[in-house]
Amino acid sequence: MTRKQLAEKLNDDLKSEYQAIIMYITYAAAATGPHRPMLKQFFEQEIPEELAHAQFLAEKVASLGGVPATEPKPVPAAEGPREMLANVLEAERAAISAYKQRSRDAAELGDVGLSARLETLVEDETHHFEETEKILRGWQ
Ligand SMILES: [Fe+2]
Ligand SMILES: [Fe+2]
Repeated sequence: MTRKQLAEKLNDDLKSEYQAIIMYITYAAAATGPHRPMLKQFFEQEIPEELAHAQFLAEKVASLGGVPATEPKPVPAAEGPREMLANVLEAERAAISAYKQRSRDAAELGDVGLSARLETLVEDETHHFEETEKILRGWQ
């Protein structure tokens, strides 16, 4: 693992954060049905945290000598609230997995501060994942 390789991986994570921001904005706007008020609030409340993650990653990519990505990964389309929540669950699951690995990558490179900070991202995404899973668990 070199600094350049770590910057490239963090840039990929950054694209996922941009995807998450757009996904939450889009789903908050497009959610319909009797659960709309709850879903709109639920999706919107995730945006500031994902934004903070994106800002942190962009700063770090630049610090490592890379050029921060400006393109998001594509946001999956959703037919309705059930599919929105399923897509969110999958995205959060992927984020947890990516940041666990990235924390190990940073530790391998000796950047203990980055490794610790990435663990807090795992914590944030785990919270998002668990809250989404609880909503889906009771969904008929
Ligand atoms: Fe995030
Ligand atoms: Fe998240």
